[in-house]
Amino acid sequence: MAGDPAEDGPDRPPRLKTTYGRRLGRPLKPSQRRLQAELLPRLSLPVPLGTEPLDLARLFGRTPDRLWIELGFGGGEHLAWQAAAHPDVSFIAAEFFMNGIASLLGHLERQGTRNVRILPDDGRPLLGLLPEAGVERAFILFPDPWPKRRHWRRRIVQPETLDALARILADGAELRIATDDPGYLEWILRHVLASEHFAWPARAPRDWSDRPGDWPATRYEEKAVRAGRKPCFLTFRRRARGAPVSR
Ligand SMILES: C[S@@+](CC[C@H](N)C(=O)[O-])C[C@H]1O[C@@H](n2cnc3c(N)ncnc32)[C@H](O)[C@@H]1O
Repeated sequence: MAGDPAEDGPDRPPRLKTTYGRRLGRPLKPSQRRLQAELLPRLSLPVPLGTEPLDLARLFGRTPDRLWIELGFGGGEHLAWQAAAHPDVSFIAAEFFMNGIASLLGHLERQGTRNVRILPDDGRPLLGLLPEAGVERAFILFPDPWPKRRHWRRRIVQPETLDALARILADGAELRIATDDPGYLEWILRHVLASEHFAWPARAPRDWSDRPGDWPATRYEEKAVRAGRKPCFLTFRRRARGAPVSR
């Protein structure tokens, strides 16, 4: 049962079968229900995903030259901005909260954006179905911090997720993670830096305290700032395969 400490101890490996969080909050507005019924089926990956590698050429109508992914896009403001700013990039993004998916669909329709495909489900199984070294950038922005110790295994940043990301990210690719939670920040840095696959090129405080210009604010970030919390913007790089690890 979700939330049962006996099942949820931090030392147990995470079960990919379980998702945590809400799938639906407020009822969808009629305009959002229309997008869900008409636009989502055209942009959606199959749910469940199955076990075969994704046929990206079929998904996008041509083999993508450049592929970026986002896990847990929330209301999709960041994703919609990136997709409009980078029409030459193909995006696959996952979110299981239907109100957020409906919000993204609204952005995409208003913008006329065509380079986004959506997994309306847990994003973690997607990672195993993408080609090795096939992804140029991955975003995990303000993932749920799950502050209670017994819930830490629900955190999306786990060694298993990082290994899966390391497989699909190309050499030199960026992994961007943001958080406003000091405990999760420490966790993210500890786990990413423990991985031999990632480097953190930041040198000065502004490298993590200032939001880069090509990184628009998300709804969650704006809420955090209004509440007086300080977001951190972490940009990691996938180390080159076969290169010696220097820290
Ligand atoms: C705190 S919100 C942040 C949303 C957005 N990135 C932002 O900054 O506004 C975290 C989001 O991640 C989603 N999420 C959590 N785990 C996920 C998973 N395994 N796959 C897809 N989405 C996930 C949740 O539904 C939620 O919308």
